[in-house]
Amino acid sequence: MSAKRSSIHGQWSSRWAFILAATGSAVGLGNIWRFPYLAGENGGGAFVLVYLVCVVLVGIPIMMAEILLGRRGRQSPINTMETLAAEEGLSKHWHFLGWMGVIAGFVILSYYSVIAGWTLGYIFRTGTGLFVDADAAFSKQMFAELVADPEKLLAWHTIFIIMSVVVVSRGVKSGLEKAVRFLMPALLILLLVMVGYAMSTEKFMEGINYLFIPNFEVLSHKKFFADILLPALGQAFFSLSIGMGAIMIYGSYLSHKSSITFNCFTIAIADTSVAILAGVAIFPIVFTYGLEPAGGPGLIFVTLPIAFGQMPFGTFFGTLFFVLLMFAGWTSSISLLEPAVTWLVENRDMTRVKATALAGTIAWLLGIVTIFSFNHWAFSFRFAGVVKENGFFDIFDILTSNILLPVGGLLVAIFAAWLMSRSSTVDELGIGDGPGYKAWRFAVRYIAPFGVIIIFLNAIGLFKVLGLVE
Ligand code: TRP
Repeated sequence: MSAKRSSIHGQWSSRWAFILAATGSAVGLGNIWRFPYLAGENGGGAFVLVYLVCVVLVGIPIMMAEILLGRRGRQSPINTMETLAAEEGLSKHWHFLGWMGVIAGFVILSYYSVIAGWTLGYIFRTGTGLFVDADAAFSKQMFAELVADPEKLLAWHTIFIIMSVVVVSRGVKSGLEKAVRFLMPALLILLLVMVGYAMSTEKFMEGINYLFIPNFEVLSHKKFFADILLPALGQAFFSLSIGMGAIMIYGSYLSHKSSITFNCFTIAIADTSVAILAGVAIFPIVFTYGLEPAGGPGLIFVTLPIAFGQMPFGTFFGTLFFVLLMFAGWTSSISLLEPAVTWLVENRDMTRVKATALAGTIAWLLGIVTIFSFNHWAFSFRFAGVVKENGFFDIFDILTSNILLPVGGLLVAIFAAWLMSRSSTVDELGIGDGPGYKAWRFAVRYIAPFGVIIIFLNAIGLFKVLGLVE
């Protein structure tokens, strides 16, 4: 059969090149910026525990399915879905899944770039020693001043989009492989330094308990499905870069000889470790300095600079930290652009450079909405039992992480485990038809889709309307 297709966009030079690039995509602002603030908003330990369960039961199996589809189709997610659907005798409308991913990619990139812009700004703030001996009030004020200034935000956002466009226009494989090889270990070491500092703070244990001991009192005034499970599920998708075709397109450059299972576990373990380390570094600081765990999207930008202001060589470590965080965001943002770019190259006969410039411009324009969400257009609403204060930014974030990505993942699971023939998936996964395969198939066939559906139905309150839950 057509199992030995090759991609017109090239191939990774080795299995490790793929693992590094996919880890580069997965590890980003989602781990260090988004995970801690969501954990802080949604009840700490209970959220973290549910998050881990979502990664293992839903995230990893769907990631395997998505890579499998990408490698089999070897084109942009839109064309891959169309080709595979035709091959399995299904409707060509499955390309819709690819389209949904492209849209999700633009929306995520548009605000991701604004937040990555904050990181750029903070490189300079810490670099000039602004936070030496700073207290919590000062750090809060610095953050508030940054986000109140649309011109600054626009400047940083523009720079970050250009950075992403430059890499993608040269092909994600050339520069990326080398960069990620030392950036990821460096980020990990720096996080360990931060954890070391956190251990020296007065309230280290309070932070640890908050992060790891589920507090069931929180659960009593939160709705479990809507307020904890849905955001945790969304975060699993967001952090693993699944549900929109990013990991699918990376899979399309993967050699046939490489083990999808091994690769996925490696990526997921790396991704989860970074998120947990970030939490361990941040919450002790939050408690020691009397800050609010539910500080929202500014959480790390308020907490970490205080720590850098106190620790020895803090200016150096702080600057390096924000540089590495910027790189982590960079290696993620390019995977958000890649699916749209490959489609433009395949179907609109554009050069990669033109396609990337066009896609980058769309994301840049949309990013302006996020910029104003933190100042002129700010409005608040309630979601997941939390008051969200940054209007359109929060809407974009919730729409993508909590709706589009899980729906994308649900469709991937349905396609790979219910519609594709068993022999195609056995062939593609290449681990035989034994217990490993059966476990994967059970997870994508039952656990992942029913999990997502039940969480959705609960979150929209349908179960309540039907009288199925209290
Ligand atoms: N996973 C990245 C992070 O944690 C963000 C990201 C990159 C992403 N590509 C994606 C999220 C695709 C969802 C889908 O920062």
